[in-house]
Amino acid sequence: MTASGTVRFNPFDPGFRADPYPHYRALREQAPVHRALGQWVLTRHADVTVVLRDRSTSVGLIPDLVDRQTERLGPAAPVAPGSLARIGRLARTSLVFTDAPGHGRLRALTGRAFGPRTLGALRPRATAAARRLATALRLAGGGDAVADLAAPLPLAVLTDALGLPPALRGDLAAWTHRIRFLLEPGLLTAADLPDVAAALDAFAATLHEVVATRRRDPGEDLLSALAAARTPDGDRLDDEELVLVAIMTFVAGLETTAALLGNGLHALLTHPDQAALLRADPRRLPAAVAELLRFDSPLQLTRRATTREIPLADAVVPGGAQVLLCLGAANRDPEAFDDPDVLDVTRAPTAHLAYGRGLHGCVGAALASLVAEVALHALLVLPGTLRLDGPVSWQEHSRIVRGVARLPVAFR
Ligand code: HEM
Repeated sequence: MTASGTVRFNPFDPGFRADPYPHYRALREQAPVHRALGQWVLTRHADVTVVLRDRSTSVGLIPDLVDRQTERLGPAAPVAPGSLARIGRLARTSLVFTDAPGHGRLRALTGRAFGPRTLGALRPRATAAARRLATALRLAGGGDAVADLAAPLPLAVLTDALGLPPALRGDLAAWTHRIRFLLEPGLLTAADLPDVAAALDAFAATLHEVVATRRRDPGEDLLSALAAARTPDGDRLDDEELVLVAIMTFVAGLETTAALLGNGLHALLTHPDQAALLRADPRRLPAAVAELLRFDSPLQLTRRATTREIPLADAVVPGGAQVLLCLGAANRDPEAFDDPDVLDVTRAPTAHLAYGRGLHGCVGAALASLVAEVALHALLVLPGTLRLDGPVSWQEHSRIVRGVARLPVAFR
């Protein structure tokens, strides 16, 4: 049975980009489980959590879609077969698109590299990078907080985390932006495919060189930690896997973390009382970052395919279905959060779903939250008060990531 109602998920609705939350509320209240755009759409926290935790579901639908798209578009595009094959391999080597048992192996080999040791080493350098960018913004009297801080900081931190030269940042950002379309293969066109393939080949060639030097001469960076990782039975990542894992680190981590900084800053600038609470006591920052993730989640949507029936509170999703999980809607569910539309940086820790949940829960969550903490701290301790200084615009290039595109700010 599906809950009936006249509302249907429609991300093309005018106004959805700027504020999807009224639409999500209507869906939660009138059609919390319904079919739209060829999939089952879930908006309640309890239902989304059930599916995220259900180990019978599959994440393999995106690599299948990538294969279908490259088979369909490939013949008409001037792309070498080897490059096309690598696109498919990248999708299939990604943790986020790999089902068990392959997922368990990859997670065992990569999870620890993102752990406290790597983060502990990274924190002082991330703090210094955040201070540099925030100070430059202050000296300029303001600017675009996305172009001047939210975008460059995660790029600097990830480049540093992987031990790659700062001079590569421009290339890394451009390659990542092209390759990100693999997360949303439906948006890929024949005209894009040569650029995507070229970006992936260039990224991989650069990283293969770095991996070869790290194998000989390991450092303290994430790439060296990934190269050294072993499962209990001695399995390890081969060079191509290592390169693809590093590429996916950028694809999964760059624009999401930038969106956390941009959306989080936007939320604080439009709720100055909450920003004042943080300025008065920066020890609140870790809890505040969790609240900002809940309040305006960077990754709004994710997908699963069911392999058997999944009973939910008021409906049953059949086997063989595609399911769209609206994380952004679940994070505003009044059944899960008191006054969900209120930004409250003093909120007790909540079970937000911004980093997912269960087997595929975000491996970079601690890293992304660290970047947000140091960025907000660097801005809050500056003299003067940061204010919005013009109209905000929202990114248009993604259906799954919600991020401020332009955030004009000034110090008063
Ligand atoms: C604010 C920033 C971020 C957000 C909101 C975010 C969100 C998420 C979410 C919701 C998932 C689960 C997807 C699903 O279950 O379908 C996920 C998985 C993942 N994230 Fe993140 N992420 C962020 C930053 C990062 C960073 C910085 C990295 C890498 C350094 C990263 C790497 C990954 C990986 C590898 C997975 C797949 C994990 C698995 O399947 O086992 N993410 N992320």
